[in-house]
Amino acid sequence: MTNILIIGKNGQVGQALPSALAHLGAVTVLDRQALDLTDEHALRQTIRSYQPQIIVNAAAFTAVDRAEDRPDLAYQINATAPAIMAQMAQESDALLVHYSTDYVFDGDKSTPYVETDQPNPLNIYGLSKYAGELAIQNSGAAHYILRTSWVYADQGSNFLNTIRRLASERPELRIVNDQLGAPTWAQAIAEMTASLLTADQQEPRPERRGLYHFSASGAVTWHGFAQAILAATTLPSGRSLPTLTPITTAEYPLPAMRPMNSRLDTSRLLQQFGIQPEPWDVMLKRCLRQTRSA
Ligand SMILES: NC(=O)c1ccc[n+]([C@@H]2O[C@H](COP(=O)([O-])OP(=O)(O)OC[C@H]3O[C@@H](n4cnc5c(N)ncnc54)[C@H](OP(=O)(O)O)[C@@H]3O)[C@@H](O)[C@H]2O)c1
Repeated sequence: MTNILIIGKNGQVGQALPSALAHLGAVTVLDRQALDLTDEHALRQTIRSYQPQIIVNAAAFTAVDRAEDRPDLAYQINATAPAIMAQMAQESDALLVHYSTDYVFDGDKSTPYVETDQPNPLNIYGLSKYAGELAIQNSGAAHYILRTSWVYADQGSNFLNTIRRLASERPELRIVNDQLGAPTWAQAIAEMTASLLTADQQEPRPERRGLYHFSASGAVTWHGFAQAILAATTLPSGRSLPTLTPITTAEYPLPAMRPMNSRLDTSRLLQQFGIQPEPWDVMLKRCLRQTRSA
């Protein structure tokens, strides 16, 4: 039986992973209380004690703006901890699955980014995630680095839930309309991870492992995403939905810069594994259907 250790139990992706991966082996999931990634000794001890054949790291410091003030912490969690996981995986012949981000790119390209494009992060979060990627790639461990984008889930703090909350609180929402990306449902990321690992188990081919872009297909701006969320939102009778006003990034300054183009080309995933991510709007509908039936 394959021992699978998932780190980051309470995150958006971390919550979706255990049931998606259950058919692949014996799954253990750890939250921050069980394993704090700032404790390097505990990280080594924990991996040693579980002896996983597969480590899935869904934990990260994802607060993009807060990372600007806490670079040490962002690097500790997003770069040093994955480096240790990779070293431990390499020593024990385990496979490391790690998630990364569209924010490794500067967004200056006019078409979707491919895996061979040169990263050039604009903010500390992106820099720390890119450092994590490099550490894993240089470790010699068997690995998948899966770059995804604009992650949301039914629970947790994310754009979907912010818009749903603000819909009943404000008469007008001013939303950025010049950043382009693919909102990706955490559950779909977990499902794609399961498909990838199933294929890897059935036919282990080391040359297929490595870096993959892993987001929904298609692209939309935050304003377009908000439009789709509001279109599926109903308020109590007598209440009307807020007006949506498109604004520019410059009109909504934040501590961390964001790439204007966050689109990821997922052709490599299709070519190597036959995995074709769903369009972002189909994913959103599936997420909202699941929410309603819960
Ligand atoms: N969110 C996005 O839009 C986005 C976009 C592109 C890529 N990604 C990448 O996708 C992956 C999953 O993201 P997500 O959205 O699921 O993240 P998330 O919801 O923010 O969850 C991150 C998890 O990491 C845990 N964590 C943070 N610091 C920790 C520490 N010191 N020790 C142990 N655990 C710690 C958090 O624990 P607590 O629950 O205790 O806080 C949380 O459960 C990450 O690698 C992220 O970089 C995310």
